[in-house]
Amino acid sequence: MQMSRSSAIRVVSPDASNTPPQRQPANGSAAVIAEISAGLLAPDAHTSPKFLYDGLGSKLFEAICELPEYYPTRTEAGIFAAHGADMARAIGTGTTMIDLGAGNCAKAASLFPLLQPAQYVPVDISRDFLTEAVGRLQQRFPHIEMTALGLDFSSGFELPDSVRHSRRLFFYPGSSIGNFSPEQATAFLRGLRANAGADGGLLIGVDLIKDSGVLDAAYDDALGVTAAFNLNMLRHLNHLIGADFDVGQWQHRAFFNAAESRIEMHLEARSALTVRWDDGERHFARGERIHTEDSYKYTRQSFVGLLERAGFATAQVWTDPANWFAVIHARVIPD
Ligand code: AVI
Repeated sequence: MQMSRSSAIRVVSPDASNTPPQRQPANGSAAVIAEISAGLLAPDAHTSPKFLYDGLGSKLFEAICELPEYYPTRTEAGIFAAHGADMARAIGTGTTMIDLGAGNCAKAASLFPLLQPAQYVPVDISRDFLTEAVGRLQQRFPHIEMTALGLDFSSGFELPDSVRHSRRLFFYPGSSIGNFSPEQATAFLRGLRANAGADGGLLIGVDLIKDSGVLDAAYDDALGVTAAFNLNMLRHLNHLIGADFDVGQWQHRAFFNAAESRIEMHLEARSALTVRWDDGERHFARGERIHTEDSYKYTRQSFVGLLERAGFATAQVWTDPANWFAVIHARVIPD
């Protein structure tokens, strides 16, 4: 078919890389906006890792857990599979199992046949997600009392009276404790101890120090999923504080800092740029970074020491054959 020049349709697409994002109104609460602004304006710009998790961020984290480089999820699952029966013997049945950051409740549910808790209390910031998951679980395990709690437990909490007082077992898998500094982790675990009662305990997943090449790859995978997870925080910040971060102007950096015994994640400016938001702005030089997450790695001994400072005595430690990850059962040290 012949087409005359004048009748040809030309589609002109804007060059996305030259179009800075339009600022939208801020959607975060005043407290969230103040927290993020203070971090971005600090001499060493930083943000809390909790802002990595919007809808897309949570999906990207699920994808990270499937990556060949990200060993913690499958290594911990292997420990539960190999030693679950031993854990149940050590802990006993009939506990009040309080699952911190329960999400879809799958990790705890995999232990139900062995642990047979009397009550299951999943706690997660997203109440809607929890309610759905618990509804399904209750059908599979009708004899376990289930009480879902939608709350942010990271900055301390009081358990309501609907949670049984006897034999409380805090379940905190996934090495999420590593996203607190050791000082914050001690304070957080002290808070658990205060809520646990004299016969209470803890079953916790801890990532162990290992070859830095393995650690670096786990947080900077070949597919770039962790990079997307980190960069997505900028989209989330745009939404929360009405900022104009241009994701294409930033790059993911992640590495093991051996002196601090932690993986650090940063976002690095590819060129000199200025970011503006509702009530602030900051200039970033080329190469300047925003520190977005730490993931502390422990030796078995250093974590046992941290538990002791928080008022817990380690009862038993289970690891994988390579000693990459530990699941630890600890009991409250009575006053
Ligand atoms: C949730 N947390 C235990 C993960 C970690 O390994 O520190 C978060 C994460 N960040 C990058 N990859 C995974």
